[in-house]
Amino acid sequence: MTATEMRQSEGVQEPTPVLSFEDVVLTFAGVTALNGVSFTVDPGELFAVIGPNGAGKTSIFNVLSGVYRPQRGTVRFGDQDLIGRRPHAIARLGIARTFQNIELFSNLTVIDNLMLGRHHHHPYGVLAAFAWLGKARRNELANRNAVEEIVDFLELAQWRRLPVGLLPYGVQKRVELGRALASEPKLLLLDEPVAGMNLEETEDMARFILDIRDELGLPIVMVEHDMGLVMDLADRIMVMDFGRPIRTGTPNEVATDPEVVRAYLGEEHQVERS
Ligand SMILES: Nc1ncnc2c1ncn2[C@@H]1O[C@H](COP(=O)(O)OP(=O)(O)O)[C@@H](O)[C@H]1O
Ligand SMILES: [Mg+2]
Repeated sequence: MTATEMRQSEGVQEPTPVLSFEDVVLTFAGVTALNGVSFTVDPGELFAVIGPNGAGKTSIFNVLSGVYRPQRGTVRFGDQDLIGRRPHAIARLGIARTFQNIELFSNLTVIDNLMLGRHHHHPYGVLAAFAWLGKARRNELANRNAVEEIVDFLELAQWRRLPVGLLPYGVQKRVELGRALASEPKLLLLDEPVAGMNLEETEDMARFILDIRDELGLPIVMVEHDMGLVMDLADRIMVMDFGRPIRTGTPNEVATDPEVVRAYLGEEHQVERS
């Protein structure tokens, strides 16, 4: 009897996953970005995906958020099948993401960027954004309260009236996180949330990510290539290489797996560890 079967026979139910990928294959002309990817994310879990550049990490998010349609496989969010849905429909189901490269309206203030996050349809262009802001002003109070809570939560108060483009890089990344939270998601996707950050910015971001999981109870899928950060934060880690998962487990399980050490951490890391 496996541990799972034993728990089930004792009447302990495994949690129903928030998200599940099953055997997902995504190819572009001649390039296999995802080559049979399966994983599940449990309620309240911080699930990390790591791997070198080109391993397929961002492609997982692009499939999840409806940007790309995989050639094979199943993607389920709660009891909803996501494949074939448009990005705005998936956002409306409660999946919010941040991007590897900042995608904010740099001329708009922190508050206005967060207000845009209240809108579930992503506005495609500045004109659409301004049109939406006009409408938002009419029911501003409800949205403003929600946005002010996020400003407090992410400690953005001192920058709230400044155009985002003028802010330090680490703060811009935090505003982007805030915009994702503003849509009140049920699942949060973070694509390399500390890429390009200095040590202090990285530590701040790590603290906010943990607060989101622990205080808001929000399940998070985080893509990273920085093994150190992921080891500290994640409940479980999936290590990708060449479009396939080579190991999924707790930080300890992953870090001691010989194939992971060989394929991803490399000899340099082995030397460091010995
Ligand atoms: N739109 C695309 N067109 C063609 N190839 C792509 C596209 N998006 C990703 N790829 C390829 O798929 C592979 C995985 O890319 P990606 O998911 O961005 O990796 P990662 O985020 O892990 O760096 C890479 O070889 C990349 O060049
Ligand atoms: Mg990427």
